[in-house]
Amino acid sequence: MASLQSSFMVVATTSNPNLRTSSQLASRPRRRFEVSCSSDGGRVDRRNMLFGLGGLYGASGLIRKAEALPISPPDLSKCDPKGAYTVKNEEKKDLPDNCCPPYSDTKKGYYELPTFTEMRRRPAAHNLTPDYIKKYENAIQEMRKLDVTDPDDPRGFLQQANIHCAYCNGPYDQVGHPGIDIQVHNSWLFFPFHRWYLYFYERIMGELIGDPNFALPYWNWDNPDGMQMPLMFDREESPLYDIERDQTHRPPAVVSLALSAASITDPVQLKCNNLTQMYKEMIGDVESAIDFMGDPYVDGESPPKFSDGGSAERGAHTGIHVWTGNPKNDFSEDMGNFYSAGRDPLFYAHHSNVDRMWTIWKTLPCAFTKDINDQVVPNPDDFNNASFLFYDEKKNLVRVKVADCLEHTKMGYEYEDSPTPWKTYRPTQRQKPVNAKVLAKTAETGGKVFPLTLAKTRKVVAPKPTKGKADEVLVLENITSDSSKLVSFNVFVNDADDTPQKLDRAEYAGCFTQIPHTVRAKERPSNLRLNLRELYENINIGDDDFIVVTIVPQVNGGEVTIGGIKIIPRVPA
Ligand code: C2O
Repeated sequence: MASLQSSFMVVATTSNPNLRTSSQLASRPRRRFEVSCSSDGGRVDRRNMLFGLGGLYGASGLIRKAEALPISPPDLSKCDPKGAYTVKNEEKKDLPDNCCPPYSDTKKGYYELPTFTEMRRRPAAHNLTPDYIKKYENAIQEMRKLDVTDPDDPRGFLQQANIHCAYCNGPYDQVGHPGIDIQVHNSWLFFPFHRWYLYFYERIMGELIGDPNFALPYWNWDNPDGMQMPLMFDREESPLYDIERDQTHRPPAVVSLALSAASITDPVQLKCNNLTQMYKEMIGDVESAIDFMGDPYVDGESPPKFSDGGSAERGAHTGIHVWTGNPKNDFSEDMGNFYSAGRDPLFYAHHSNVDRMWTIWKTLPCAFTKDINDQVVPNPDDFNNASFLFYDEKKNLVRVKVADCLEHTKMGYEYEDSPTPWKTYRPTQRQKPVNAKVLAKTAETGGKVFPLTLAKTRKVVAPKPTKGKADEVLVLENITSDSSKLVSFNVFVNDADDTPQKLDRAEYAGCFTQIPHTVRAKERPSNLRLNLRELYENINIGDDDFIVVTIVPQVNGGEVTIGGIKIIPRVPA
């Protein structure tokens, strides 16, 4: 458990639950305790946000209201060239030394969404007409040309790729918080930032080819028909090609959305794993808006960790990045690393589908509110007013805010329909129900087990605090590993099966993945939280006294240390 530093005070007051409707209760976010900083310049350090998890966000609102501000855009005049590209490898001498975007003044105020007469309609990448592909290639070709003819044009291919690096690899401090990086991953900024990023990318492409209705395609990896690299990206002579990909994953290799299938090649099993992963991250594992969107992240807070991200960000989104990147590079460039991901044209088709998942999630029936409003967090403006800087299609630097991107149709685009078979892919129990007591005989138990490393598969007994229709969360605490390494492991509950790569079964609880990244300051450890309510239902163990947790390393397990495992109620009594 994290200990509290004396300068921090935990505020875990519970508000009166009777005053809330059940849908409000269901919508409580995952972060339960808040801290008030009494020193340290108002900086909220996540290490000190107790992950006791049981607590309520509720009463702490007073503190956030008083002290927190939304994340604001970087000061472009203060880009630290060392903050980025620190993983540049020797063969890439042709690349610029840093990912600082060109500096210019912003217009006052926020970007206003232009009026439009026709919706841009984003199509599925595996169904495109040759004409469309040609257009798309022309657009990327034009952007690549700018890299040569006018490297400072912010619409150039590399300049656009650098935007991603600039917001993820630490060239910028948060304004007013020296030494604290801006990071748009692993939090509720993830969906909005990438939506705006694609919005301008699409408009720039349209501008460069003179087609104001040009729409980015989406890589339809959630649909079995789209579960391979779309062919148009795999033609070596095409501007859409990128050599820095995993060459063993060229078509017809089937994608792995859960990253857990390093050694699976059976395409049918892979597709079943993928549909299960989609069901879980879109529906089964999601108990609140925050579960899907990601944890709050506000001004002055140290950059969030992988485990703070929303279910979809941590799941298929990360899976595709890692699956696509070239594993022969130390850092899995291009797609497998934040600083270089935007240099693969596939990135934008990938994120188009990530964005599509956000639009679909909003339409799924559920028991909680999907908006980040005051039922979800004390101060929704911490989210709504977070802002970023982008260059528009006319090279103007513009300031945009989260609130203005929450309805994609107002931004003038929509997605062509495609089947979503994962919606009904709730996992079932494949094996005969096992007696947890029998399983426990071969498992480790007691405090001495920790910290444990994942050089091999580990089985650990974890006591359950509640019974009946239990709504609990499995917490893997204080996970540490070398941030420059790709790391991944899977977690199963009461699993007697010896097939840890088959994820299409009810015992699969979830996975942990770390994309290699650079950090300027020492990182705090991660805490992985996996909702168990539906898993308990699926294998009918809500009434048991304990569960047996199996942790199966997939990539670089020997690098991982886990400080503790526990189960806590998701919403405290
Ligand atoms: Cu900004 Cu898919 O990452």
